[in-house]
Amino acid sequence: MTEHWTPASWRSKPAKHIPGDYPDAAALSRVEQTLRGMPPLVFAGEARRLKSLLGDVSEGRAFLLQGGDCAESFKEFHADNIRDTFRLILQMAVVLTFAGGKPVVKVGRMAGQFGKPRSSAVETQGDVTLPSYRGDNINGMEFTPQTRTPDPQRLVQAYSQSAATLNLLRAFASGGYADLHNIHRWTLGFVADSPQGARYRELGEKISESLAFMEAIGVTPESQPALHQVEFFTSHEGLLLNFEEAMTRVDSTSGDWYDTSAHLLWIGERTRDLDGAHVEFFKGIKNPIGVKCGPTMEGDDLGRLADALNPKNEAGRLTLYGRFGADKIEDRLPRLLRATKAAGLNVVWAIDPMHGNTLTAANGYKTRPFDRILSEVRSFVEICKAEGVHPGGVHLEMTGQNVTECLGGARKVAEGDLADRYHTHCDPRLNGEQALELAFLVAEKLKEDRADVTRRAAAGA
Ligand code: TRP
Ligand code: MN
Repeated sequence: MTEHWTPASWRSKPAKHIPGDYPDAAALSRVEQTLRGMPPLVFAGEARRLKSLLGDVSEGRAFLLQGGDCAESFKEFHADNIRDTFRLILQMAVVLTFAGGKPVVKVGRMAGQFGKPRSSAVETQGDVTLPSYRGDNINGMEFTPQTRTPDPQRLVQAYSQSAATLNLLRAFASGGYADLHNIHRWTLGFVADSPQGARYRELGEKISESLAFMEAIGVTPESQPALHQVEFFTSHEGLLLNFEEAMTRVDSTSGDWYDTSAHLLWIGERTRDLDGAHVEFFKGIKNPIGVKCGPTMEGDDLGRLADALNPKNEAGRLTLYGRFGADKIEDRLPRLLRATKAAGLNVVWAIDPMHGNTLTAANGYKTRPFDRILSEVRSFVEICKAEGVHPGGVHLEMTGQNVTECLGGARKVAEGDLADRYHTHCDPRLNGEQALELAFLVAEKLKEDRADVTRRAAAGA
């Protein structure tokens, strides 16, 4: 950390992927000032609670399910979209909890996931070159000089959309929608008549039966609030540090700094330089944080990052998301697992099977083959097991909408189908069926794990 960390100390470090081309610096400062005066979106106590749950994950006692849009947008901001992604997460959580026999920590990639790191700062169409689209909190997608110019007012709109999204998520999580008795109501219309839908219905019936039994013996949502609600957390990539800085406040009970824009924030693969602005900012906030680990990361890079970001080696503080690609994970992951294990680092190891498996289809669509996504998840669990590390969770880009963005799955989305419902503002997402299918695969893997543990315990007894 620099001598004195402050929420602004990142400003003296090299900052990647943060726009420097706001035409009116004074207007940007005014917006930052406005944001500093806005209420926090989350409370420090909630971030501490998530950290403690992630501590359970790091010790093998729970599983992390994190998912949502690649990038949220102003245009697709709608209660139905929020609800549909939320109910999909509930369904997946049911599947995973039932199979794994362990609690599932539910984290949305929602209510603040706007930024998009871009490989090029500019985009050329014909003989016109304009700034790249960087996410709705910075500029607009439309290819005109006006829309592509960064506009600080968008930060205020992003704040307000995040607040409204979070408000609805809190209502869904605690207001009765997430009650386990509603298990059959979470199925999305288009998923209902798929093989995954049928499989889920079967599981739901078993759980309903168990609930009826428990009710008969006096365990009801009234006596057991956990049946009636879920703890749900939010997360996004902490990319735009101007915004994150403005949302960072001292927690009065502990005197520590928390970034109150989300419960968990992560550093992306492209901004994890040890001496860069993002790592500097993340050092000082006390939220649980994550780092994306791609194919170029070596064990000692990771060791140095972990020392910088989690010097006290606290369980739950640091989650590592591997994102290598189905064809690279076998080569890259073992060395990183060994590095964290050899150094005795308390971290959560999770897999992001999306970002290493992106390709451009012959017809120009950016897509991801579902079988490669499944393959990377499968390899992740197997490699973790072989290395004696808990496969702690998954981080997914997915939506409750019936989109055709990733190839394959039960409906066999083909290249020619991509155009049908390709709605993403950024990367291709799993649709409801694909996400549920992935949850069933992970569930099977976790079940094997549980069977192994039971067998070992029986053998030892
Ligand atoms: N509160 C418990 C949990 O989150 C049980 C629960 C209630 C639940 N509603 C749920 C689990 C929906 C998964 C999905 O684990
Ligand atoms: Mn993405």
